[in-house]
Amino acid sequence: MLGRCALEDLRKRKSHKWRSYPPDVLPAFVAEMDFDLAEPIVEAVWAAMSIGDCGYGHKGELGEAFAAFAAKRLRWSPDPARVFAIPDVMTGIAEVIQAITPPGSGIVITPPVYQPFFYRLRLAGRRVVEAPLRRDHHGRYDLDPEALDRALAGDDVSACLFASPHNPTGRVWSRAQLITVADICQRRGAALLIDEIHAPLVLPGAEHVPFLSLDHEMAQRSFAFTSASKAWNIPGLKCGVAISGSPETDSVLQERWEALLAGQVGVLGSVAAFEESLPWLDALLAQLDENRSLLTRLLAGSLPGVRYVPPEASFLAWLDCRALSLGDDPAAAFLSRGRVALSSGPGFGHQGRGFARLNMGTSPELMAEAVRRMTASR
Ligand SMILES: Cc1ncc(COP(=O)(O)O)c(C=O)c1O
Repeated sequence: MLGRCALEDLRKRKSHKWRSYPPDVLPAFVAEMDFDLAEPIVEAVWAAMSIGDCGYGHKGELGEAFAAFAAKRLRWSPDPARVFAIPDVMTGIAEVIQAITPPGSGIVITPPVYQPFFYRLRLAGRRVVEAPLRRDHHGRYDLDPEALDRALAGDDVSACLFASPHNPTGRVWSRAQLITVADICQRRGAALLIDEIHAPLVLPGAEHVPFLSLDHEMAQRSFAFTSASKAWNIPGLKCGVAISGSPETDSVLQERWEALLAGQVGVLGSVAAFEESLPWLDALLAQLDENRSLLTRLLAGSLPGVRYVPPEASFLAWLDCRALSLGDDPAAAFLSRGRVALSSGPGFGHQGRGFARLNMGTSPELMAEAVRRMTASR
């Protein structure tokens, strides 16, 4: 179902992952996966092409499809009317930030965190305020409520942008941790935006709690963002999902409909993903579960100095490479000497110095090849 991930086929792709480096480099950086697409998505896209259905996007059945998926897989029943199509998660976040926070105000994020959180907020004319996660001696990250409270208490801080599950650490937050975040935001009078793009990719052993399903006043005042793009590997189709917490906040998204117009083919592909592609998702989750364990074994065998805590969600491995003495940006050494492209740790904040992020959304063979190339870089 997921395909062979043969390099000669993958190199025919013309996406960011496959066009950013020369052909002797194995790309394992940007969060695109190497698997074949789910058949219902392919059929939906073909059907659209065959009748010329490439006009401006219409939300269509997206609300119902996402709500049904959330009910089946996330134990949450959002009102389909409160589900909005957006072009992608970061555009949705940037538009809502610009709508509900004053220009120049501070937005709290929890680094190490997804790189665009830093620059998209700056480009949106907001100040980035850091409330770093804390890390225990096993290398496991956790929420730091004191750091979050301190950051939100700062002058002119207006909102918090929180990734749940978290990228690049792969943490899935508990109900109690989400309530802690909500309590602090409420006490400090801050708005809250929750990025749940990795939620469909929670792996065995963890349970994702959708923030808007919480029985908390902040749930009504917040916005959540997710997508079929990460779990079903269709970011190029340009459709994400924004959910407003209450009828009062719907207008923020409604008024910006033109800035938030999703790709029409993306809407159709996302409906096919949420409604008809759960067997494919199950096959993917089983493969990712296997891959995260495989990486433990591969690293133990050839790079025992690298510390890695398997993610609880998604296909990204956050690697502590400091013991390899490859400097602040080990990904640069892996690229120049090993010809394998990982994401640079420092891009996720200065907390990422000495770290790199490896994409595990591929076959066990290509994962082994990535580790072989990393090993050759030393
Ligand atoms: C936490 C997080 N948010 C947002 C995105 C990007 O989403 P989009 O392409 O829909 O903007 C990613 C992509 O990996 C991500 O990890």
